[in-house]
Amino acid sequence: MQFGRTTLSKFVIEHTRASHGELGALLIDVAAAVKTISAMVAKGALGGSLGALDSTNVQGEVQKKLDVLTNEAILRHCEWGGQLAGMASEEMDDPYPIPAEYPRGRYLLVFDPLDGSSNSDVNVSVGTIFSIFARSTAGDAELGDYLRPGSEQLAAGYAIYGPSTMMVLTLGNGTHGFTLDRESGNFILTHPAIRVPEDTREFAINTSNERFWEPPVQRYVSECKAGKSGVRGADFNTRWIASMVAEVHRILIRGGIFMYPKDSKDPSRPGRLRLLYEANPMAMLIEQAGGAASTGRQRILDVAPDSLHQRVPVILGSKNEVERLERYHQEYDTGADRPFVSPLFSDRSLFRDEPRA
Ligand code: F6P
Repeated sequence: MQFGRTTLSKFVIEHTRASHGELGALLIDVAAAVKTISAMVAKGALGGSLGALDSTNVQGEVQKKLDVLTNEAILRHCEWGGQLAGMASEEMDDPYPIPAEYPRGRYLLVFDPLDGSSNSDVNVSVGTIFSIFARSTAGDAELGDYLRPGSEQLAAGYAIYGPSTMMVLTLGNGTHGFTLDRESGNFILTHPAIRVPEDTREFAINTSNERFWEPPVQRYVSECKAGKSGVRGADFNTRWIASMVAEVHRILIRGGIFMYPKDSKDPSRPGRLRLLYEANPMAMLIEQAGGAASTGRQRILDVAPDSLHQRVPVILGSKNEVERLERYHQEYDTGADRPFVSPLFSDRSLFRDEPRA
């Protein structure tokens, strides 16, 4: 029995009174979509929805059946209520206009309906990530309305579909976690005011990209790997789930650092993750929990977007480690890290280092 415990509905209604219930109503619709997706994902192979389609999304990625179904689930659950001016998603090239039969509101909902979706085929945790902004007036959103820095987000969150389904939410006043009670169908506040430890000995990065990283990231990871025998004087542990939601959730619970940094693998992409519906909401959740989120050279929430599906380098988690990486980027950009850089690339080396930005 969950009598007396705070449900997600109660929490958002109490914390969104200033919006006269509109933001609360929108978040309750998002939570309803999350419950639908949770049930879909939990069916696994029995639901007939695993596997890929023939289509690709705007990023050129092969779409999973679940990518399309979960995208539909969010559109249908959220389009009717009269709170929204429009929606945008990883799975749609252009913003989604609110159908003519429904009233328009002020809010913009931007989401990745099933982040890490290839993990659903192998029964590993996946998630939904969302971000909410507002226009000053109700009406149909234009593209420019979506291109706002993350610091203007009013709410952000994710759902994680793991052994339990959780929704983790911020309204700009702390980061709070709710666990789905499958019997009652309620999300119950189980993790109020989450705090990310400032220090960590756990890092997450896809090391198969090591040769494409910039020197500051190579420096950081090589120091972590050197452990007790290196400059850090401590052993580090590594984790890589390849599911950003699961990675961020672990960091919120026990600390850590997650990196998908700038790399030279595909020069047309400054990073792998999308700013509006991956990096920004996660950055707000992490900052609201006392962590930090950076591109290495700039606070993620200060990046001014120039397109809907823009990518950005992401380094987030325990504050002291993110700040160390920012320092390494700065030392690299100013040349102050010269003593670190491999002897092969030093002033008297066989090879010349690439020109500095
Ligand atoms: O779409 C982003 C994503 O699936 C993240 O959830 C995850 O962190 C990353 O891509 C994994 O990338 P890679 O397959 O390169 O390890």
